[in-house]
Amino acid sequence: MDLPSCTQDPQTIEDNSPVYVGTEEDFKKCQRMTAVVHDREVVIFYHKGEYHAMDIRCYHSGGPLHLGEIEDFDGRTCIVCPWHKYKITLSTGEGLYQSINPKDPSAVPKWCSKGVKQRIHTVTVKNGHIYVTLSKASDFKCDSDFYATGQFKVIQRPSTLRKVPNFKNI
Ligand code: FES
Repeated sequence: MDLPSCTQDPQTIEDNSPVYVGTEEDFKKCQRMTAVVHDREVVIFYHKGEYHAMDIRCYHSGGPLHLGEIEDFDGRTCIVCPWHKYKITLSTGEGLYQSINPKDPSAVPKWCSKGVKQRIHTVTVKNGHIYVTLSKASDFKCDSDFYATGQFKVIQRPSTLRKVPNFKNI
């Protein structure tokens, strides 16, 4: 009987172990940081006491989200891409847009969601240390994946990574 063989390219196997990206103190000082987590560039925001991590390049055309402003739209906190001003919610990665009713021009435009467009990742705080765990790209496709892989991917030197192999024992 033939045993099944693994044909998956090792480069495509997902690694979802948490990666250390800095201390709480670091984030309280600078409010945002960039990191490479298992070959994926992410930005981590510290905003109003909460941490949010997402792919660093905007789902629209790859704009640098770490250079954007944080603003609230209809009560939802967003990063505004510096290139074309797309609004992306920090907590869910949804793209927001304003809709108007052409039959009622006097109506106030409403903020609506395009759905999840930017991949967000999980941030964990443990003993004053901040870790990022990538969301599983195999679970669902996200528009920002295009700019997080292939020719658009920018990899920093491996020495900037501080990988924690056994997160549970920290
Ligand atoms: S690249 Fe971000 S809005 Fe266009």
